[in-house]
Amino acid sequence: MSFFSSLEIAPFFPATVKASALQFDPQAFRDGDAAAEGIALPEKMKNAVAKRKAEYVAGRLCAMRAIEGLCGVAGHQVAAGERGEPVWPDGLIGSITHTKGFAAAVAARNEDWEGLGIDTEEIMTENVMQTVKNKICRPEEWVFKPENLNPQTFATLIFSAKESLFKCLYPLVRRMFWFEDARIVALDAEYKSFSIELLSDLGSGFKRKDCFSGFYYADDVKIHTFIGLVKRACPS
Ligand SMILES: CC(C)(COP(=O)(O)OP(=O)(O)OC[C@H]1O[C@@H](n2cnc3c(N)ncnc32)[C@H](O)[C@@H]1OP(=O)(O)O)[C@@H](O)C(=O)NCCC(=O)NCCS
Repeated sequence: MSFFSSLEIAPFFPATVKASALQFDPQAFRDGDAAAEGIALPEKMKNAVAKRKAEYVAGRLCAMRAIEGLCGVAGHQVAAGERGEPVWPDGLIGSITHTKGFAAAVAARNEDWEGLGIDTEEIMTENVMQTVKNKICRPEEWVFKPENLNPQTFATLIFSAKESLFKCLYPLVRRMFWFEDARIVALDAEYKSFSIELLSDLGSGFKRKDCFSGFYYADDVKIHTFIGLVKRACPS
């Protein structure tokens, strides 16, 4: 029996973005599962605890399947870069997330998309929210809280949206930036879409007031966010 089972999330994404997700049980993971699924564990992962190996393999399996959905070829490896960023095969970009037995990845061609970020978070408790709220949210973001989301869910949405933005932009700017460097500036609860604005210049053509579009999906326990940066036309 496998340590994972597949989930269907493709309908949530634009047609040129391929997505794959699965549920997994870290306790059912065995070292042989990585090789059995065709995933190469990086050297630095070899001594990691089983839970970390399981989430790495689950994320990479999703990435491999998303690439297969895009190119029709199975078995593409996604390596790990110096800052932990996934390193995609030539011509492709994407993003990976995993939390509490859930993993997902998105992949697309770099001729269609410049950046992709995906993130899933377990909805924080009220206690956790009280502790982290001021670090991850700005007061002005709370005007966008939809009536159908409680404060903990909305705080988690803000957190996840910023993690998705980071994953989308890091491969392009190759520098760290933080929760105070971006803010939600619009949210549509009907379409579950949001806009997020940079509050700092990041270099590499990304500057303060640049805006990015994303969407979210919330169930009772988790929030999922996605941000896609469509390929910009080259200046002629
Ligand atoms: C890197 C980071 C975003 C990961 O998010 P997370 O919620 O902790 O973890 P997730 O499970 O959702 O995502 C983990 C995956 O993110 C990907 N990732 C890690 N570093 C990354 C980077 N620099 N760029 C893009 N993707 C990265 C990896 O694929 C990783 O999985 P893997 O190690 O198994 O390959 C987070 O740990 C971090 O460093 N945050 C600080 C920066 C930030 O968020 N700033 C907010 C700006 S508005």
